[in-house]
Amino acid sequence: MQSKSRIPNYSQLKKKLPSVKKPPSINSESINKNTNQSMHVGEKQTSTQYNHTNQISNFTNKTNSINIHKKEKQTLKENKQIIEFIKSNTLTELRMQLAKVNLPFKQHATTMVFSDGDSESPLMFIGEAPGQEEDKQGKPFVGESGKLLETMLNAAGIYRKNYYITNIVPWRPPSNRTPTLEEINIMRPYIMNHIDIIKPKIVVLIGSTSHRAVMNQIKAITTIRGQFTEKDNMLFMPVFHPSYLLRSPSKKKEMWHDILTLKHKLLEMNLNIIDS
Ligand code: URA
Repeated sequence: MQSKSRIPNYSQLKKKLPSVKKPPSINSESINKNTNQSMHVGEKQTSTQYNHTNQISNFTNKTNSINIHKKEKQTLKENKQIIEFIKSNTLTELRMQLAKVNLPFKQHATTMVFSDGDSESPLMFIGEAPGQEEDKQGKPFVGESGKLLETMLNAAGIYRKNYYITNIVPWRPPSNRTPTLEEINIMRPYIMNHIDIIKPKIVVLIGSTSHRAVMNQIKAITTIRGQFTEKDNMLFMPVFHPSYLLRSPSKKKEMWHDILTLKHKLLEMNLNIIDS
């Protein structure tokens, strides 16, 4: 493996990157469908109707939410215990234990997306949770945002065969939503165990959810991205999540900067995983 490569500048790289899709426009019909099933398109509630229905629904919602809250707290405690119970020394053992656990938020997934890449690598990437394509293929970061991340890393000579990649949550959340704070808390012992087994020198935390789970801190990704923090003899660097870059393409420039910072660090530490 060579340690030096020609680094494209950002405008050269930009030509290679996937273009951004516009989100579908929202029309009033779909809004009404989602907010009030019994109303027809264009129909308005009078203020009296509105107040009355709201008072009733506020009361029922309050009572329901107290009950749900109590029940949820109990299940969350139980779920955390399930994950805390897992303590593996090898990847095979960790994967097997994880496959056996019975957690409510794994029920929407078709596959368990465990990891990909080189488990001996000194470089580890951690994302949040699989999306639709990852759920289909059983591999992390193979969908649209994963392809964007990979294109950018490849342009810097950082290839998947030379790093290890996984997620905080190995199951696709329902409707592709972001894992909740509770789910992240439940999964924290698992991801720390995963890091312990891999023993990387550098961990790249993809997106704020991943940063929150691993560092156990809430910080705005815009203020911490691209900066290394040392902890337990490892360097941790948060970066933007590529799905954010798909929505805000102007941020790709900052991401490219952070990837180059990572590359320089790998070279500085003599971690020879860069291909030209
Ligand atoms: N987003 C993630 O955080 N992880 C994946 O595996 C895919 C998309």
